[in-house]
Amino acid sequence: MSNVYLNGEYLPLDQAKISVLDRGFLFADGVYEVIPVYGGRLLRMREHMQRLQNSLDAIRLENPLTNTQWLEIAEKLLLDNPNSGPGDDKYVYLQVTRGVAAKRNHGFPDEVNQTVFMMVNEMAPVNKEELRQGVSAITLDDIRWKACHVKSISLLGNILLRQQAHDNGAAEAILINEGLVTEGAASNVFAVIDDVLVTAPMGNRLLPGITRDLILELAAENNINYEERDFTEQELLTASEIWFSSSTKEILPVVELNGKPVANGQSGPIWEKMIDIYQACKAKLRSGETS
Ligand code: PDD
Repeated sequence: MSNVYLNGEYLPLDQAKISVLDRGFLFADGVYEVIPVYGGRLLRMREHMQRLQNSLDAIRLENPLTNTQWLEIAEKLLLDNPNSGPGDDKYVYLQVTRGVAAKRNHGFPDEVNQTVFMMVNEMAPVNKEELRQGVSAITLDDIRWKACHVKSISLLGNILLRQQAHDNGAAEAILINEGLVTEGAASNVFAVIDDVLVTAPMGNRLLPGITRDLILELAAENNINYEERDFTEQELLTASEIWFSSSTKEILPVVELNGKPVANGQSGPIWEKMIDIYQACKAKLRSGETS
């Protein structure tokens, strides 16, 4: 049984309990983060902490802990939860809600005691050969709200879209908002259009993915041309490569879109280059060369 952190205590998972009056349960009134861990080291912890702060600010909830305290809890859980499967890749999941109020009431309670939860899960080692097989995707209308930059635990839109993709035999949905590509149901989207790597610009239509930012940084360092710009569903349909990015899926090529092959139906050369750069970046983290 894994050990988790809940409101100041370290507990076995089955003993971690919250009230049914928790506003996370009643209203999805909270935010979360998912941070990948390689060789016991958290990838881009600073950036994840900054995004957590931004999400908390956006929902007007005070950060209950300092960055140092968040890191201490994560490091303790990582030590308490050695991997049982192959590899040592993990991810840290953390969640903060507006806590328990005496009564169900939409307005904020006068006094807030945030509920703070963290757990560590194993992440199956990501193998390049497997990734190269790629996945299929479908385009769907982005039915979500107007604050997609907040990493909110209110994921009903996302899960319905993901399930609709699964029901259609696809691994992930690519969301279209007024003709423009925003992101995946739980990932950011990249396309190679006229040999340029393109991804939608930051704003309230998509989550500012930490993996997305890292890919752009690595593209800049490695002379891969990229643009953060709006691009249309039409451009996506004729792109020579399409990728998903996320902390848990890393960089995943899309080889089939809406039942048709993407280019020749295989992962493309820019993905091949980027995945090697990304793996090298992970190797540096494992060896302690970078944070
Ligand atoms: N989700 N967009 C959405 C809607 C997401 O849910 C995610 C990640 C991303 C990618 O963000 P990042 O690179 O920081 O992981 C983009 C996580 C993994 C999840 O909900 O489990």
